[in-house]
Amino acid sequence: MTSQPDPNGQNAEEPGGTASHPPGATTNPEELLAVLVGHGLIDKEEAQQLKGPLYEKQTTDAGQLVRTLVKLDGITKNQARRIYRDLASLLEQKIPGYILSEKLGSGAGGAVYRAQQVSMNREVAIKILHGRLAKNPDYLKRFVKEAHVAARCSHNNIVQAIDVGSAGGAHFFVMELIKGKTISDFLKGSKPVFGEKEATEIILQIARALEHAAHRGLVHRDIKPSNIMLTAEGIAKLADLGLAREATDLETIEKERGLTIGTPFYIAPEQIKGKDDIDSRADIYSLGATFYHMITGRPPFEGANVHEVIEKHLREPLAPPDHLNPKLSSGVGEVVEIMMAKDRKGRYQTPEDLVIDLECLLNNEAPKLARKRIKALDLGSLSEGESYSEGGDSGELPGWVIPTVATLGGLLVLSLFANLVLALR
Ligand SMILES: Nc1ncnc2c1ncn2[C@@H]1O[C@H](COP(=O)(O)OP(=O)(O)OP(=O)(O)O)[C@@H](O)[C@H]1O
Ligand SMILES: [Mg+2]
Repeated sequence: MTSQPDPNGQNAEEPGGTASHPPGATTNPEELLAVLVGHGLIDKEEAQQLKGPLYEKQTTDAGQLVRTLVKLDGITKNQARRIYRDLASLLEQKIPGYILSEKLGSGAGGAVYRAQQVSMNREVAIKILHGRLAKNPDYLKRFVKEAHVAARCSHNNIVQAIDVGSAGGAHFFVMELIKGKTISDFLKGSKPVFGEKEATEIILQIARALEHAAHRGLVHRDIKPSNIMLTAEGIAKLADLGLAREATDLETIEKERGLTIGTPFYIAPEQIKGKDDIDSRADIYSLGATFYHMITGRPPFEGANVHEVIEKHLREPLAPPDHLNPKLSSGVGEVVEIMMAKDRKGRYQTPEDLVIDLECLLNNEAPKLARKRIKALDLGSLSEGESYSEGGDSGELPGWVIPTVATLGGLLVLSLFANLVLALR
């Protein structure tokens, strides 16, 4: 496909015109019909019936095929016009072995399409990377490497990675197609839409997915509501596992402010600091932030801009979710508190530990590991002799120290001055 198909054999620039379709736009009947099925304009049965007459035309000219469809009453002229733009871009994206149809959505990393995997005769989802990423050789190396690790994962709560590759300058990641909605689709309003039990069941499924991934050495690094999909049967699926991330340290955020990354509502403090030894504990923090949003109706930290939000992740104490939503149990509040400890040594250390406490919540029991950790913190003692503060953090003075020292210093100078005046008298 080298130019845009014109469904009515008219150039887009000539709305009522009679000019013929620009030459060079090619497709085949199957590809075209898949696009129409993807758009819900015809069903699979109708596509099957239209295939024969389209092949009879013995043409690969996209415009001519679309005109034939209109003549056959497969689609109306208006429908043809409506899909005009999408059709053009979809047919331009050629990936051998796959027939792309409707666009499902897009994010910071690329655009996701529904597609037919021809060899397996099944529907899949394909993410095509944004050009910006495709131009970065370091990123591309990691992209392929992580996809290969992800292919070794097989779990009911993980969107299966199927294929990775490049074609015609486009880099793509093929995955299992999930028929459902993302958690972020449910969180559009400001009220909690998930009850405690329902949210806990979803978070537990994702914790199990993280357990499976962690055993294979994979860290997700971008757990957030739009990367968790929910099927009609209530199965939660973790998306984009094995999709390499861009760096998200402060410098990158600064450089790309307002450009590519969304507001980092769910990012772990150590990722903000650009630590290079990110592990599952970062995923546990982000899953905690997602849990928080689901049960309170708002992300844990909000702000007027990206910087305000990341500052709060780093320094502001978390408002307990059960204070925001009085319907919540104190147990769920404790679990979220431990998941979102600013210092990763204070969090659940593995997804397995998190699973134990989430199961407690679902059995109406107190979360035993969270209780133990909170008690240890209250007593000022440290479990297993470990320090809860990490390199860099421990050297920092609490916010109240500097103003207090400054005030006391000021008072001392004043009193010295007063004494001097009195002595001179
Ligand atoms: N495997 C899939 N099956 C079905 N739909 C999917 C699949 N993966 C993604 N989608 C859809 O595509 C949309 C865009 O996904 P995408 O991953 O590009 O964006 P995002 O998750 O919002 O941001 P990011 O790029 O940071 O991951 C999702 O919101 C979802 O609706
Ligand atoms: Mg995503």
